[in-house]
Amino acid sequence: MTDTALVLLHGFPLDGRMWDRVREHLSAQMPELDIMAPTVRGCHKTQPWPADYAPSLTWEADRIAELINQSSHTRAVVVGLSMGGYIAQALAAHHPQIIAGMVLMDTNCGADSPASSDARLSMATLAESKQSKQVYASLDQMVEALCARDTFVNNHDVIERAQEMAREIDPGSIAWIQRAMAARPNSQDILQFIGKKVPSLVIRGAEDPTCTSKTANTMAEALGCDVVNIPSAGHFSAMEQPQAVAKALEGFLRQNYTEF
Ligand code: MLT
Repeated sequence: MTDTALVLLHGFPLDGRMWDRVREHLSAQMPELDIMAPTVRGCHKTQPWPADYAPSLTWEADRIAELINQSSHTRAVVVGLSMGGYIAQALAAHHPQIIAGMVLMDTNCGADSPASSDARLSMATLAESKQSKQVYASLDQMVEALCARDTFVNNHDVIERAQEMAREIDPGSIAWIQRAMAARPNSQDILQFIGKKVPSLVIRGAEDPTCTSKTANTMAEALGCDVVNIPSAGHFSAMEQPQAVAKALEGFLRQNYTEF
């Protein structure tokens, strides 16, 4: 038992099961590691977002901090993929004392451009108009468009699993999450701050159309760390190439933490 846990924060429209294969590989190699992969509030219909709270990812960062505080650990190496990366950055901004390391995957540290923000708000409006068939169809398309070609051709079950997870999210929560993501701030200064305090790493699916090399380099420069590219992976690298992602995480942990 060490003082430090590994917390894996998933992307949208997925849930904590997104990390299942990465966890399997990591647990086999590092049995002493305590891995937490919570489902973000709202990303499963059993846990809707609190409709009476203004949409903000800070709310979820507070909840993750509470989970860590209630565990037997005092700190965590936090790994966030896409939306999970936004939540990791909110955690660094509001609960820096809890962070023992930061790994950002397939995400970015900028605020939304007006076009991205408009697209999110349109999806929120569609979800709120109860046209759930259209919302899930558009999430299906989004998942397909964000995966690597190899996943599409040789590993289609990954896409189907991601689409099944998307269907477990209530339309109201989809709207809330879209509005929360659209409201997030630029976090470059937070990365500069946290990168000086703890070890960090950026991981990118080499075919991720949203986290481009430039985006990954901007985060790595702010953090002062390296970028690992995962071949044959797109935006959902942890599902598309779990073994390679687990290997990158294992290397990072062994290099920077004597307790693992
Ligand atoms: C995710 O995978 O979490 C989403 O693509 C995040 C986003 O829409 O920016």
